[in-house]
Amino acid sequence: MLQKFDERNKNIKVWVKDGLYSRDKAKVSVFDSVVQGGDAVWEGLRVYPAGIFLLDRHLNRLFESAKALAFTDIPDIAFIKNALKETLDANNMQKDTHIRLTLTRGEKITSGMDPRLNQAGSCLIILPEWKPPVYDNDHGITVFTSTIRRNNPSFLDSKIHHNNLLNNIQAKIQSNVAGKDAALMLDYFGFAAELNGTNIFMVKGDKVYTPFASACLHGITRGLILELCQKNNIHIEERNISLTELYNADEVFCTGTMGELTPIVEIDGRNTKNSTGYQMLNKLITLFEATKQNHCIPLN
Ligand SMILES: Cc1ncc(COP(=O)(O)O)c(C=O)c1O
Repeated sequence: MLQKFDERNKNIKVWVKDGLYSRDKAKVSVFDSVVQGGDAVWEGLRVYPAGIFLLDRHLNRLFESAKALAFTDIPDIAFIKNALKETLDANNMQKDTHIRLTLTRGEKITSGMDPRLNQAGSCLIILPEWKPPVYDNDHGITVFTSTIRRNNPSFLDSKIHHNNLLNNIQAKIQSNVAGKDAALMLDYFGFAAELNGTNIFMVKGDKVYTPFASACLHGITRGLILELCQKNNIHIEERNISLTELYNADEVFCTGTMGELTPIVEIDGRNTKNSTGYQMLNKLITLFEATKQNHCIPLN
């Protein structure tokens, strides 16, 4: 297991709906929509001394997800930013912190699916934890291809960052059984979509490829890597990628708020070729680190 309990998180304070509660008192109702049907949207945020990384883009994705799910009570940016500031201040957290920001459709008057039963407003949850990047970026991770396919927009659009995570959790269970760090999920047609919690990239020669964002989450880190490649004249292309191409790629890596940029060293028992000594990945990590500060948004 990559994550362990961190003693520093024993007494954290968590924002729930309208105020801060200690970890043992931070709870939602059994009538809350997230309990009833995973009916919530969320973002993972990373805190650096200069602020929250790409906060504007994360909040934009949260708002778009909530709009797509027809949430009627979406708190405004000022409310969320103020709640984030109060939460980080109360925990004295300015670095090595990961925030799980969740917006549920709120409490229902009785159990059921119908959003008209939600008459108490939405519920914002800000869960901050001491959590340095989760993956071991020096040694990389191993992955196993799951038989569970990533949803495409015909079923549940991956452009909605929702809490109905069973699709990915089932894949993760399969990778656990296989003894690997993460699950590689294919799309409906059998092309690579993403890992169960991160986006995937491959390098062939001097070109970088990543799957279309039709079945994967349109990751914020993924988006930044696309931009960094474009700005630095690195050939980057979104396209269908088959497993055979991944097995024979020069470099394979994944991206996400939890782990930043992480090499994938093994796929389905094949060592990834890595004929380049991760030259491209290292170049991208350097570009990513150089731009990090500029993309941190302070909470004033
Ligand atoms: C399924 C999935 N893919 C990719 C990512 C990475 O996205 P981001 O770079 O926005 O953290 C996440 C993060 O929540 C995720 O849940």
